[in-house]
Amino acid sequence: MTHRRPKALLAMRRAYVPQLFPDVVRARIERHADIDVALAVERLDDPRVAALLPELEVLITGWGCPPLDDAFLRSAPRLGAVLHAAGSVKAHVTKAVWDRGIAVASAAEANAVPVAEYTLGAILLAGKGAFRLRERYRGDRTFTVAEVVPDVGNHGRRVGVVGASRIGRQVISHLSRHDFEVRLYDPYATTAPVPRLGLEELLATSDIVSLHAPATPETHHLLDRDRLALLPDGAVLINTAQGSLIDTRALVDELKSGRISAVLDVTSPEPLPGHSVLFELPNVFLTPHIAGSQGNELARMGAAVADELERLAAGLPLLHPIQYRDLDNAA
Ligand SMILES: NC(=O)c1ccc[n+]([C@@H]2O[C@H](COP(=O)([O-])OP(=O)(O)OC[C@H]3O[C@@H](n4cnc5c(N)ncnc54)[C@H](O)[C@@H]3O)[C@@H](O)[C@H]2O)c1
Repeated sequence: MTHRRPKALLAMRRAYVPQLFPDVVRARIERHADIDVALAVERLDDPRVAALLPELEVLITGWGCPPLDDAFLRSAPRLGAVLHAAGSVKAHVTKAVWDRGIAVASAAEANAVPVAEYTLGAILLAGKGAFRLRERYRGDRTFTVAEVVPDVGNHGRRVGVVGASRIGRQVISHLSRHDFEVRLYDPYATTAPVPRLGLEELLATSDIVSLHAPATPETHHLLDRDRLALLPDGAVLINTAQGSLIDTRALVDELKSGRISAVLDVTSPEPLPGHSVLFELPNVFLTPHIAGSQGNELARMGAAVADELERLAAGLPLLHPIQYRDLDNAA
């Protein structure tokens, strides 16, 4: 049996399209939408889609989609859903979209998967002392097999998670399969899968602290100089969230002292200036904002959009809707 397929359009940087929608995902999208996947627009006033906009029902957005401004919304009176094949919708979905009653969904849950995996890897290696023992091996070029390294290991290590966000919850779920003692700080979470602590207590009693809160006015420099000073000697701070959560100057001072170490996938500013000492310090493991979906991981976000299209076709509610009222405390 065939069903009527809504008219749909891709709006995103074209370079992402092949990896977001490999053949198997593309076939699912085309089954449920009347769409030309080869035509992804980077501007909503692209003349090639001017004739389509009056009929447009579903807009599939991705990284690089411009803001859905009033002019676009006026030109697309039948638009009923915006399905985002990436995480945050804050950069392009305007309040006017919700005011018009247009449904919005995002693939943030799918994008959380690789970030949580990266974080689990970082926690396991940090707990093992792998980052600093690697540096020592590089320096000494020798080691003793039977050497006792008393302060490493992942048995009973205390991990503090900041933010019961999508990513934070996936991290906690991964950690539950290991022998960690996991605690959470989140002033907004209504449920908590692990014990909750105040931020100061969490910082002062964690061997590893992993940040998973969104960038909001409230989380700007959440870890300032005073709070960084609470971390125990030898602690490892992991940031895959946003650079603005940490006062970079204060962090650099702590790291220069050698008292703590850090795994940083995000920084402020980003990218760092070429002369930043964070590139040089042996107790910093720095990556260029790669924890989120990369390479073959983009297809998971494309598949999340296909899931939502299938649900629309079946008359089911969206799986991962985004409400305007939730944006203040969300990524
Ligand atoms: N490194 C990367 O490539 C990458 C990729 C995706 C997301 N991120 C970042 O990861 C973080 C989490 O993303 P997400 O999609 O899981 O977020 P999310 O939108 O699911 O997080 C929202 C939740 O964060 C919690 N929160 C809000 N304010 C808080 C505060 N002051 N203190 C503690 N918790 C607070 C609340 O529980 C809220 O419900 C964000 O900073 C996001 O930008 C990074």
